[in-house]
Amino acid sequence: MSVSVNPIVSVAGLNKWFGDFHVLRDIDLLVGRGQRIVICGPSGSGKSTLIRCINALEEFQEGRITIDGIELGPNLRRVDDIRRDVGMVFQSFNLFPHLTVLENCTLAPIWVRHMPKKDADAAAMKYLERVRIPDKANAYPGQLSGGQQQRVAIARALTMTPKVMLFDEPTSALDPEMVKEVLDTMVDLAGEGMTMLVVTHEMGFAKEVASRVVFMDAGQIIEANTPDQFFANPQHARTKLFLSQILR
Ligand SMILES: Nc1ncnc2c1ncn2[C@@H]1O[C@H](COP(=O)(O)OP(=O)(O)OP(=O)(O)O)[C@@H](O)[C@H]1O
Ligand SMILES: [Mg+2]
Repeated sequence: MSVSVNPIVSVAGLNKWFGDFHVLRDIDLLVGRGQRIVICGPSGSGKSTLIRCINALEEFQEGRITIDGIELGPNLRRVDDIRRDVGMVFQSFNLFPHLTVLENCTLAPIWVRHMPKKDADAAAMKYLERVRIPDKANAYPGQLSGGQQQRVAIARALTMTPKVMLFDEPTSALDPEMVKEVLDTMVDLAGEGMTMLVVTHEMGFAKEVASRVVFMDAGQIIEANTPDQFFANPQHARTKLFLSQILR
């Protein structure tokens, strides 16, 4: 298992509590540039919370998170810097219903990056082409299928030219026939060398593109391994139980 000497994402000694509840326990995770990490585990194990900490959507009490040299810590508020570098795609798309597809994509580049509208439009169209729905640029989210909306959400994140993309169960709210088009888009992105952390139970995707699969349970990373090793030779009883349930 090779981790580059100079990771683009580094999580070290991360601990987080919600009140008395110890939700993340001593999380260490190094992600090399261009690596794809798939995070899986039972409901409530802390996967979303971990991803949200990496994007500065959640505070944490102990440890450090560093994204391409920018450090987030309990007392370091570098939220805007981190968000500039980290794109996020949620289960529920989170598009603005009153804005067109193109306007959804250009909102942050124009208002956060101060990009001229003409340049933002051109950048957004480039990424809408990449996710293969340029023809929907002037449609509203409500006129799109779930799979199309999720591809817009991916294009919207890419329009900010992030260094790292985070996905939290991007296909779990989709009808089965739309899962593939979103996964195909993510496979393309992986092929282009994007660094990706993906919470998903799509084990076919994990086998195809993951550099490493990370299994979480009860706030801890229980096991992390290459997909080959992870699926063929799980080390821990909890991993075996989880795999037997999910691959059933
Ligand atoms: N804002 C919050 N306040 C208190 N507890 C929370 C909060 N958000 C999450 N939790 C708790 O933290 C634990 C981890 O939640 P998290 O959403 O990270 O799990 P998950 O692994 O993403 O689960 P799922 O697979 O269901 O999405 C859960 O027990 C959850 O109830
Ligand atoms: Mg979750």
